[in-house]
Amino acid sequence: MIELQGQVALVTGAGRGIGRAVALELARAGADLVLCARTQAQLEEVAAEIRTLGRRALVATGDVSQVAPVEAIVAQALQEFAHIDILVNNAGIRRDAVLLRMKEEDWDEVLQVNLRSAFVCTRAVSKGMLKKRSGRIINISSVIALMGNAGQANYAASKAGLIGFTRSVARELASRGITVNAVAPGYIETEMTRDLPQKAREWIQERIPMGFLGQPEDVAKMVRFLSAPETRYVTGQVFNVDGGMVM
Ligand SMILES: NC(=O)c1ccc[n+]([C@@H]2O[C@H](COP(=O)([O-])OP(=O)(O)OC[C@H]3O[C@@H](n4cnc5c(N)ncnc54)[C@H](O)[C@@H]3O)[C@@H](O)[C@H]2O)c1
Repeated sequence: MIELQGQVALVTGAGRGIGRAVALELARAGADLVLCARTQAQLEEVAAEIRTLGRRALVATGDVSQVAPVEAIVAQALQEFAHIDILVNNAGIRRDAVLLRMKEEDWDEVLQVNLRSAFVCTRAVSKGMLKKRSGRIINISSVIALMGNAGQANYAASKAGLIGFTRSVARELASRGITVNAVAPGYIETEMTRDLPQKAREWIQERIPMGFLGQPEDVAKMVRFLSAPETRYVTGQVFNVDGGMVM
């Protein structure tokens, strides 16, 4: 079923990992894509894959935590497609350290990229959604927001902040036909988790009832579900995609 035909999705951090998988999944469901990240080369590769699926793709580079580049990206997208129907706030980083060794710049950078970007992008994109009285906003949080993790106080705070942001904006926009939800992935095989030491990987695996790490596509399927017309009555929720790690 082509349930997203005629819709336009903007995905941040779309050059690799979960963002890339989300962009491809939405394209397979019929959407055209605006792909954002800081590095152009990876975005061009994803755009080429989307075009082979018969969908349109616009590559828009820039730091999505800053107002000026985001406003330029949204203006470029509206010029190309006239509307943005789905926003996936996916761009994220980690700068891990135990509390006493955590530098202020590690704290600030993680909060800026993981949380401020969602605010900046949502504010910019929701203007058009409000006029259209429809839209889907999906924020990629993390199970770390729910369970905490030693060495990730900055990351956990940013991802927990995203959940509060999701629920508040969901309340603000619900009467205008716009849903706002969060997806909380567990441990997913991407660049972000590639450098996990073997011991940490084993420790994690033991705590996942399903016994294995997820793939970016597992998260992408949930984002597609939340983007579809069928989920018009679902808002302000957090959906874990974690093999049962948190329940
Ligand atoms: N991999 C996991 O296990 C996991 C688990 C839970 C949540 N997440 C979250 O999922 C999202 C994607 O993670 P991933 O594993 O695919 O990571 P990744 O490092 O493979 O990809 C992150 C993407 O974000 C982009 N990005 C980073 N900072 C940016 C900025 N300021 N402006 C624009 N783009 C920026 C990068 O260029 C990259 O394309 C992140 O928000 C991450 O926190 C990942």
